[in-house]
Order: sequence, then structure tokens, then C-alpha cells
Amino acid sequence: MSTTDCAIEARQLVKTYAVRGKKHGIRALDGLDISVPRGMIYGLLGPNGAGKSTTVKILTSLARPDSGTARVEGVDVLARPGQVRHMIGVVAQRSGADPTATGRENLILQGRLYGLRGGAVRARADELLAHLLRRHAAPPGRGPRADAPARGAVPRRAHHGPGP
Ligand SMILES: Nc1ncnc2c1ncn2[C@@H]1O[C@H](COP(=O)(O)OP(=O)(O)O)[C@@H](O)[C@H]1O
Ligand SMILES: [Mg+2]
Repeated sequence: MSTTDCAIEARQLVKTYAVRGKKHGIRALDGLDISVPRGMIYGLLGPNGAGKSTTVKILTSLARPDSGTARVEGVDVLARPGQVRHMIGVVAQRSGADPTATGRENLILQGRLYGLRGGAVRARADELLAHLLRRHAAPPGRGPRADAPARGAVPRRAHHGPGP
């Protein structure tokens, strides 16, 4: 597969964590190659400690590998992390929502993090709230349900996605 067909392409990723008492640290990734074609749902499976989270952190620019290359939509994650962050949406396992804030406040916070300001961020939050309420108004068992751990993902992903 040529590079231009790949949404994600990583080559020879190596990542070692320094750990006290371990002279050589922990090698989380030892030359990982990944090619994910555009438009594919890709499952990265492996036992605990296999390096899945480390891989996602590198691909989303939250961690740097010791060596290797990573590209998202052809953009070098190490050279242009800001550009990659603008293009991607990440929904982590644990909620990033502020549990003390309302859903609307969380949407506004996430919107601000995406660079929206003033009336635009409030309008977008209200638009998304109306959309989410419509989606989640389905009778039990007939529509998407808000499962607790993923709740924070909704505001985060919503601003990034195509939206209503
Ligand atoms: N911040 C860290 N400091 C030290 N070791 C780490 C750190 N993060 C992950 N590791 C180690 O790196 C290896 C891969 O971890 P991780 O990427 O979290 O795997 P997975 O998500 O597949 O369970 C494991 O041995 C883990 O203990
Ligand atoms: Mg993990």
C-alpha cells in the first residue's frame, strides 16, 4: 500500500520509559510498524502492557518515540504536532469531562479548546446539545445510550466531528 492511501502510517517506533531500578528502562515499543488505510475502522489489540496506549499517545503527539516515524494523513506527527492535533479527534477510555460542570459548560469548554470564542462557541454548544438530545431521545434499547465512562467523549468528539 502506498503512503498516500494511509490515514496513519508509523515505521519502526521505539519507546523506552525510564524506570528507577531498571538500568535499561522498560521498552514499551520495539520497532512497531503500522499502516492504517483511509476509511477503515482499525482495532489495535493486545494484552495489558503490549504498548497500545503508548502507540496512541505517540500518534496523537502526546508522547515522543525514541526513534521511528509517524504520519497522520501524511503529516509528520513529530515535526508538526499542532497540525496533527487540529485534524484528529481522540476519545480516551476515561472521561475528560468536568463532573462539576453542566453538559453545556463542558461543551463550551471543549469548544474554546478548539479555538471557538464568544457567541460562536455558545451557538455551537447549543446546536450540539439540540443534536445530542434528539439522538438520545430514542426509547430504551432503540437508540444510542450514554454509557458512563464515555460521557466526556461526547463533548470532545462533538466539536471536532461533522456535527448536526
Ligand atoms: N509512564 C510510564 N512509565 C513507565 N512505564 C510505562 C509508562 N507507561 C507505560 N509503561 C510501560 O510500558 C509498557 C506498555 O504500556 P502501555 O502502552 O500502557 O500498554 P497497553 O496500553 O497495551 O496496556 C508496559 O510495560 C507499561 O508498564
Ligand atoms: Mg492501555
